[in-house]
Amino acid sequence: MPQLIQTSEADFPPELRRQALELSYLEWPQAFSAPPKGDEALNDPALDPVCIALVEDGCLLSYTGVQSLWFGKGDEVCRVSGISGMLTRAAQRGRGAGRQVLVAASAWMARSGTDFGIFTCDPPLVAFYARAGWIETPTMPLVGGTREQPFPSAQFGKVTLAQAFTPRGQARLVQQQGRPIELELGVGNLW
Ligand SMILES: CC(C)(COP(=O)(O)OP(=O)(O)OC[C@H]1O[C@@H](n2cnc3c(N)ncnc32)[C@H](O)[C@@H]1OP(=O)(O)O)[C@@H](O)C(=O)NCCC(=O)NCCS
Repeated sequence: MPQLIQTSEADFPPELRRQALELSYLEWPQAFSAPPKGDEALNDPALDPVCIALVEDGCLLSYTGVQSLWFGKGDEVCRVSGISGMLTRAAQRGRGAGRQVLVAASAWMARSGTDFGIFTCDPPLVAFYARAGWIETPTMPLVGGTREQPFPSAQFGKVTLAQAFTPRGQARLVQQQGRPIELELGVGNLW
């Protein structure tokens, strides 16, 4: 029976970290400067990373990272979370593992003080994410990277998806329509 694991990255078991890195390298080798050794960080430690995984008999079936930061200033500040590195082991795809991890990640945001979630995906995956409540926001593209070196997702053919979890988050998403959401995610980084 597959088991759902939800923990801060610091407490994510080393063997599951190794498998998540191995699968990430298979899927996105261009994101690595060298094959991972297995003990590297999966997420930016500055962004309160949480790992959500579906595991069966020690085998990582599906995984996603959730990272969070503060967005805005003063009274308007919002806690924002994003999904990153979502994947399912190739042989296990199409069996609902990804959906289970995605639903758990969204529920984690809902109960952890996240005002709204936002991240990007390739256009064919919009329907997969929509089933867990994520809505395409074509007039509010996510811009990652840094202030000095922005990473504008729309220019790379990515679609931005968002979901509000609190009234404050809902108000902010309405207010922000027609403008990009610029998050400091680090050079070359995007959710
Ligand atoms: C996207 C992914 C995580 C889905 O995991 P999964 O365990 O197969 O997901 P589920 O079985 O719960 O759901 C699969 C659904 O997503 C759809 N889907 C998955 N990948 C798709 C793709 N590339 N194009 C179109 N639809 C896709 C399937 O058609 C299926 O829909 P159905 O239920 O109507 O048949 C998995 O395909 C994957 O790891 N892909 C490679 C990495 C990747 O692209 N990650 C997303 C980064 S934003």
